[in-house]
Amino acid sequence: MPAAKLMSNQEIKTVLSEFNRSLTLIADKSLLINNLTSRIKQLVPVERVFVFLFSEGSGCYIPEEATQPEPVDSQPITFNAHGKLFNWLSVNELPLLISIQHDVLEYLDPHEQRKLMQMESDLIYPLKVMNQISGAVFLGKRTDGLTYDKDDLATLSLLFNQAAFAIEHAILYEQQKERITKMYRADRLAVLGELAAGAAHEIRNPLTAIRSTIQYLARDIKDPEKGEMMAEVITEVDRINKIVQGLLSFARPSDLNATLINIEEFIMQLVSLLSSTLQTMHIETEFRFLASNPTINADREQLRQILLNVFMNSIDAMKKPDPSKSRLLTIKTENTLAKNNSVPMLALIIQDTGCGIPDENIEMIFNPFYTTKSEGTGLGLAICYGFVRGHNGEIEVQSEPGVGTSLTIKLPQNTIGKNQQHEIQNSYSRR
Ligand SMILES: Nc1ncnc2c1ncn2[C@@H]1O[C@H](COP(=O)(O)OP(=O)(O)OP(=O)(O)O)[C@@H](O)[C@H]1O
Ligand SMILES: [Mg+2]
Repeated sequence: MPAAKLMSNQEIKTVLSEFNRSLTLIADKSLLINNLTSRIKQLVPVERVFVFLFSEGSGCYIPEEATQPEPVDSQPITFNAHGKLFNWLSVNELPLLISIQHDVLEYLDPHEQRKLMQMESDLIYPLKVMNQISGAVFLGKRTDGLTYDKDDLATLSLLFNQAAFAIEHAILYEQQKERITKMYRADRLAVLGELAAGAAHEIRNPLTAIRSTIQYLARDIKDPEKGEMMAEVITEVDRINKIVQGLLSFARPSDLNATLINIEEFIMQLVSLLSSTLQTMHIETEFRFLASNPTINADREQLRQILLNVFMNSIDAMKKPDPSKSRLLTIKTENTLAKNNSVPMLALIIQDTGCGIPDENIEMIFNPFYTTKSEGTGLGLAICYGFVRGHNGEIEVQSEPGVGTSLTIKLPQNTIGKNQQHEIQNSYSRR
């Protein structure tokens, strides 16, 4: 049965030209995709719309954040660029209408068929830029029970041709912006590292001398007030030492001493180190770990420093007494993908119900020496950032003042074989 016409030609033209106009104003990829999906829904009656874009690092087409389908077998849905679906789309350069083209559906790999079923997709529209398939839009069945007809396809073609170029442009713009921020951050850390390496030795020697002299003199002091002053000087000397130590972590070349780490066990050990602090501060903990109990290849000492600093930051953020708020530290592991190249990553997510970070300060928290604490060095997250990058990982923060903060550390997934993984797990359970 042909689809009933929902819109007049004039109305369709208006939607398309409004979309066209909006493209010149929007440079943000997510906004663009949100805009695109709402235009699609104006033009055809459809509920489920997913936009997948090619990601170079993984060689896969991955769903855009704004349009995430439910995972299959707890893995995010992606399509290999060399898989049968995208092969078909790039050879034919035509939309694929599954409810009509049964032969094409049968030609696809079973796992591709499963993914399409999970997404309830009926119409798959390739997005083409300069002879390359840059992505595809997956539309569910029409909600009125009718089949997509020639008019639908013609209208959607116009929309998608415009969208493909705009999305490509937005991606390039985003990559450029991110590259500049990273270069700026990495440059500053490198300069700091060079300075630190030069100065650390010169600073530490006299510091050691000062510390031991004060300790020696303190033995003869009977006046408790003066004794306290001496103790304060030692605390300050230790603080300088901590700063120098922190600066040195920037200076060290990224020589990773990577070993296999069972992440759940590792986190539980670190949290037990903090258990008395958590108890005295009445902080509840909640763990949501992946059932697959993953291991990752990482530098144990660096990972320890990263997580301890992040945990301590969350604990500090929940210090302020606020009887109306429960204090909860949630630690999760999730499967995810790297932001730019979609390499499979393990995400460690640390959430707190602390004071949160005002929007205007979010960008600064990874800067060396940025601190809002009287006792802080402001080096904790800058060091974390350097260590995570050294692991080819990513670190992200989301925060809402008065509600809490969520910090996500993404590290590349371990690529060891299943047998090895099995052995490692056994060795853990034997302990
Ligand atoms: N979970 C969080 N909640 C609220 N603010 C946070 C959180 N994590 C970090 N911050 C903010 O970011 C700043 C920088 O953190 P960073 O770990 O680099 O240094 P610090 O904690 O102040 O000092 P140090 O790590 O030496 O103790 C903190 O002072 C705080 O203002
Ligand atoms: Mg800190």
